[in-house]
Amino acid sequence: MEVILTNDYEEMSKTAAGIIAAQIRKKPDSVIGLATGSTPLGTYKELIRMHREDGLDFSKVTTFNLDEYLGLSPSHDQSYNYFMWENLFKHININPENVHIPQGLVDDAEAFCEWYEERIKKAGGIDLQLLGIGSDGHIAFNEPGSSFGSRTRVKTLEEQTIKDNARFFKNEDEVPHFAITMGVGTILEARKILLIANGENKAPVCKAFIEGPITSQVTASALQLHPHAMVVLEEKAASMLERKKYYNWIRDNKHLVQKYLGR
Ligand code: GLP
Repeated sequence: MEVILTNDYEEMSKTAAGIIAAQIRKKPDSVIGLATGSTPLGTYKELIRMHREDGLDFSKVTTFNLDEYLGLSPSHDQSYNYFMWENLFKHININPENVHIPQGLVDDAEAFCEWYEERIKKAGGIDLQLLGIGSDGHIAFNEPGSSFGSRTRVKTLEEQTIKDNARFFKNEDEVPHFAITMGVGTILEARKILLIANGENKAPVCKAFIEGPITSQVTASALQLHPHAMVVLEEKAASMLERKKYYNWIRDNKHLVQKYLGR
């Protein structure tokens, strides 16, 4: 796991956007997995800026979002469909036909989940998957206990997640209890993974998934099994890490890292 420490939210966002942009420039028809939540907002802002000012071209890019609340229509202002269009898609030149976001209003959720997995396969798999992390260690909506082999499915949200996400709704009672989410197994199949985290409240869980044991109780720890996982942290989220000195040495000696590791 490559741990990249940054000084603040802006630097974290620009670093993450830079990694995504490099992927798109290298392979214009990249398949990118996208995330929601407040963490990636700065990353999306920077990608929009890069599109407008530097000509970053999304016309051939395909996207797959991680998850969606079950029961919310795409036009609901707290749905992840709405979030993605408002905060990214409507500002860039992506082809709407290439955008995939789980549907919150489906008659047969199980069939939809199978279809979603098929679509990812047909697109050639995900080249780069962006992730945030929940304060209980979840990635997408893979709550503690989710199997590392899990695929896209319906998942029941944890009490902590409902509390955390209540800030976006009028009150806690309005937060849906179920979501459709890519599984940990689905996420681990992405060729590259990029997890971003900021804020003091994420410090304990960042320490747990980066430096703690691999356990389904902290689903982000599954990234330790991935051959190309990058983690970009802002200072407060990184504050409890024990090997900060080591991660910083790598950052400060980029020329050597590039020479010997080729990246
Ligand atoms: C939700 C999403 C996750 C996201 C998490 C953290 O639970 N399903 O994909 O990582 O929120 O959100 P935030 O970035 O707002 O802390």
